[in-house]
Amino acid sequence: MIITISYFIASTLFLFGLKDLTHPNTARRGTSLAALGMLIAVFGTLLHHEIVDYKWIIAGLVIGTVIGIPMGLKIPMTKMPERIALSHSFGGLAIALVGVVEYYRHAGVMGKVQIGTIGFEVFLGAVTFTGSLMAFGKLQELLPGRPMTFPKQNIITVGSIVAAILLIFSLIVLPTSYSAFNLLLALSCVLGVLVVLPIGGADMPVVICLLNSYAGLAASASGFALNNMVLIICGALDGGSGFILALLMCKAMNRSFSNVLFGAFGSVAAAPREAATAEKATVRSGTPEEAAKIFKAAKSVIVVPGYGMAVAQAQHTVREMASILEKNGATVKYAIHPVAGRMPGHMNVLLAEADIPYDKLIDIDDINPEFPHTDISLVIGANDVVNPAAKTDTASPIYGMPILDVGSSKLVMVLKRSMNPGFAGIDNALFIGSNTMMIFGDAKQTLLKITAALAAA
Ligand code: TAP
Repeated sequence: MIITISYFIASTLFLFGLKDLTHPNTARRGTSLAALGMLIAVFGTLLHHEIVDYKWIIAGLVIGTVIGIPMGLKIPMTKMPERIALSHSFGGLAIALVGVVEYYRHAGVMGKVQIGTIGFEVFLGAVTFTGSLMAFGKLQELLPGRPMTFPKQNIITVGSIVAAILLIFSLIVLPTSYSAFNLLLALSCVLGVLVVLPIGGADMPVVICLLNSYAGLAASASGFALNNMVLIICGALDGGSGFILALLMCKAMNRSFSNVLFGAFGSVAAAPREAATAEKATVRSGTPEEAAKIFKAAKSVIVVPGYGMAVAQAQHTVREMASILEKNGATVKYAIHPVAGRMPGHMNVLLAEADIPYDKLIDIDDINPEFPHTDISLVIGANDVVNPAAKTDTASPIYGMPILDVGSSKLVMVLKRSMNPGFAGIDNALFIGSNTMMIFGDAKQTLLKITAALAAA
């Protein structure tokens, strides 16, 4: 009875938490509610009558806590996607292992539904495990960020998916076919690698959402196998919301969902490109003091933040500089690309932290028509999200992705440290544009100098 009540309270808290997460003003409360729900669910589960010895559970709790708390406190926000990918990976492994244990303990006495859900659980758990490890490798730059394709990749991937489904069916027909189960486990691990390696760096956000969704669905299947209500509900919420987020991301990135689902199914491998810098281009660079003089005359400015702003932690300085510009009579807006930075809403969170009003943060579709009427676009550590190759170069891995059209404004100022590419690893012709001024250096230091020069003027 206590277990059922705790599961009911936990599930209700998850639902309210998820609802609160839909708005920035309530998101913090949503996270706390969901965390409280998880705590109650864990305590409820620990009361289960089948637990006869707490020794190993306590050992696991202590080890997990000792690793988890410092990791959670110390991890910089810019490394969040890597941490999330790793967490998904461990989550997938845990779910797959639960499935393996359940199968080897009860295979002989399982009903068809239970064996089917275990097959599904192991399949998705193992795909999430290795897929998320690959995603981690790409995000951490241990693996190349570009799409890694190989001959007959589509046929092999789709063939493996079909084979895994057939193996699940064969287990339903003959539950004690241990070799089929082992083959399913191995194939699912390989499949996780196959579907993530061909995804290019810029499409990683969608993959991460999808892996999140797989982990949720696997947890839900595990709930059916273990007859555990809270796992079913929590897994379904995670799976459903992750899936919806992946669909929304695909739409925002102008990507076909099947490409991401099947690992670049039907896509053409990008041809190696010549560096944009090799096009005998001249880079026009300036100093912060020169930039300040230009800013003094500006009437309209659009700030375009990217990953580099997060690295430099320049958001508060942006706010200070914007206040001076506004006092000088300029309008300042902020252009938000859906995948700028390294996690959904990354730029919104940083700018909100610096008390920049939410109504000044304008989404890509609404801000793009404003660039041609704008005096200065100030690109702060953004690269892929302003790369015109997405519109002009059909061989580019980011071709088709919507970008912020900064090039159409009267002047573009780009704050970054070098001509190095961004996350997708491709050159950016914006930096050699005739109306572009590069200001090299750490974004925060450069902004501090511009702000000081503006204030002194
Ligand atoms: P990126 O394309 O990654 O470019 C960031 C730029 O910031 C780099 O070119 C770097 O150039 C510069 N930079 C780094 N540290 C800096 C510093 N201290 N000061 C000044 N500049 C600095 O960033 P973006 O335009 O925001 O695009 C995001 C990319 O990440 C997309 O490809 C996206 O698909 C991918 N991604 C996004 C997410 C989510 S959900 N947002 C998740 C995973 C991956 P220098 O080295 O020359 O300074």
